[in-house]
Amino acid sequence: MEQINVYSGDRIISRIIVEEEIAALESCLERYSHVFAVMDSNVAMSCPAAMQIAEIMNRRGVPGKLIDASEEDKTMDTVMDICGWLLDSGADRDALILAVGGGVTTDMVGFAASIYKRGVRFAYVPTTLLAQVDASIGGKTGVNFERYKNMLGVIRQPEFTYVCPKVLASLPHREFSAGVAEMLKTFIIKDEGNYQKAIDVLSEMHQGYSILPEESAADYWTDCVDAYANELAYLISEAVRVKAGVVSRDQFEKGERRKLNLGHTFAHAVETLAQRYDDDISHGEAVAMGLVFAARLSDRVYRGDMDTPTAMEGSIAIDLCDCGLFPECPYPLEEMAEIMSKDKKAESGIVHFVLIREVGDVMTYDLTIDEVVKLLK
Ligand SMILES: NC(=O)c1ccc[n+]([C@@H]2O[C@H](COP(=O)([O-])OP(=O)(O)OC[C@H]3O[C@@H](n4cnc5c(N)ncnc54)[C@H](O)[C@@H]3O)[C@@H](O)[C@H]2O)c1
Repeated sequence: MEQINVYSGDRIISRIIVEEEIAALESCLERYSHVFAVMDSNVAMSCPAAMQIAEIMNRRGVPGKLIDASEEDKTMDTVMDICGWLLDSGADRDALILAVGGGVTTDMVGFAASIYKRGVRFAYVPTTLLAQVDASIGGKTGVNFERYKNMLGVIRQPEFTYVCPKVLASLPHREFSAGVAEMLKTFIIKDEGNYQKAIDVLSEMHQGYSILPEESAADYWTDCVDAYANELAYLISEAVRVKAGVVSRDQFEKGERRKLNLGHTFAHAVETLAQRYDDDISHGEAVAMGLVFAARLSDRVYRGDMDTPTAMEGSIAIDLCDCGLFPECPYPLEEMAEIMSKDKKAESGIVHFVLIREVGDVMTYDLTIDEVVKLLK
């Protein structure tokens, strides 16, 4: 068991527990007398580890609610539904709301818990790689609003996040790869040799998968995630450590935390356009595209590299492809620009873009959307 903390000053404000097995979740819950669990219904059906969690909840008499947790369900309506259920179930100010699912579930349940009775405690069992390395850490909660991603929300820390790589065995390859994008993003921000280690492990895993026919690939993938459990646990812990460190130094995103948005201004534009055109692009896939845009912008700004693709853009795109992602953006730059100008992080037309000087060294750089379009052409 490993515990990584998020601090405010020298006070621990959230704990991330990385465990090999699900069973130890029970001891984490012991100190809470009134627990209410909200689980993604798809996870309940498809993830064997979720059955184990359900058994723990049954043993402890924890009331449970299943929710639909697609990106389209990530709305105030679902949050209100969760709050209504908490009220009907008699959840009081001393309740702990446990979210079990991917980033959509943790974001919504964290938000519901933050507004219910002016805020009750909550904790997460993230079940996707993306949620384990990113969404469940740092306290950002919220929902989509008026076609804009995560437009309503608050920053509030979970009591704890219980990370168990075993839950990932049932995660489809495509969803796993989405988490790879956030993991690689984290190691581009702070490397310490982990970026290359991650590429080595994740590309080896993907290579075995990619050569198999569709009918046997899914079973192979489940075994593969199991077989690489130790390597994954190491990489997940390292990524969590980076994010927990950044959040501890800048919880409310006044400075350093902005670096975690590497690629995300582009990614949010991709997601908004995907919604507009009814295209199936996940958050992690959009982040992969965003990283490639960020690499090109960085090469143009720092190195005057006008090649297409630029050197770093090419090498990051190859790394992402090797790990099972397809980072080519299907939308024209002009449409991306229209959306980015409405990004919630844009201040008076200026966006704090995160640029890559080299892997492990990123900086925020203020640019107008017009400047970005000119540089990227
Ligand atoms: N709060 C933050 O700091 C933060 C950071 C990054 C992303 N996010 C948010 O996270 C969301 C994306 O999260 P996600 O990629 O985890 O998506 P998700 O929650 O939609 O999960 C992806 C899919 O995998 C399924 N699934 C989850 N766990 C499974 C398992 N163990 N086995 C089988 N299927 C499983 C889900 O039902 C869903 O269909 C986005 O809404 C994004 O905005 C938040």
